[in-house]
Amino acid sequence: MYPTVKEALSELEKGYEINPTRWVDHARYTGEAARNIAEAAGLDGEKAYVLGLLHDIGRRWGFSGIRHIVDGYNYAMEKGWDDVARISMTHSFAENIPNINPSMMDMTREELEFTKSYLANIEFDDYDRLMHMCDNIALHSGYVLMEKRMIDISMRHGVHEGTVKRWQELFEIKDYFEKKMGRSIYSVLPGVVENTFDL
Ligand SMILES: [Fe+2]
Repeated sequence: MYPTVKEALSELEKGYEINPTRWVDHARYTGEAARNIAEAAGLDGEKAYVLGLLHDIGRRWGFSGIRHIVDGYNYAMEKGWDDVARISMTHSFAENIPNINPSMMDMTREELEFTKSYLANIEFDDYDRLMHMCDNIALHSGYVLMEKRMIDISMRHGVHEGTVKRWQELFEIKDYFEKKMGRSIYSVLPGVVENTFDL
C-alpha cells in the first residue's frame, strides 16, 4: 500500500512546514528520477515516483542520521503505507546487511536490532534497489553524476570501512538498471550535465 501522487506531494508539503530544509527538494528529485528510470526500465513509474518522494519521510521532524529510516518506517506504518515503510528501511542500503557510516549512527540499540532483523527477513526487489540508486544521484539542487554525489556524502559525513563496498554496490545497481533500460540512466535525468559540471 502506498498513497497517490497527490497525497505524497501534500505529505511532503506538510513535512516542509515542520522541517523547512533541503530534504524536501532532494525527495522531489529522487522521486522524479525514480519515475523516469522506472518507466524506461519497464517498472511502474507511478509507484516509483511515490516511493521516491516519501523515501526520506522520517526526516519530517528535523535533522537526524540513520535513525530517519526507522522514524519513517513507524510513520508510514501508522498511515497504513507498508510499501513506503519498507522503502524507508531499505533505501539506505544495497543489500540486507546494514552498512552504516558510524558518523551517522544515532539509533538506539533496539532500533538497530529492529533494522537488522527487518532487513534480514526481506528480499531486496527492484524498487528497493532503484530508491537506493536514486537517493545517490539526487542532490537538493538536481541530478548529478553518481560519483559527485558519493564525494558530496563522503565529504559531509566522512568515509568508513564500508564505503568502497557501498560504492561498488551502487555501480552494480546502475549497471543492472542500464541493462534493463538499454541506455544510460543519465539519459532520462534532465539537467544532469549542467548540475554535474556547474554549467
Ligand atoms: Fe534517507
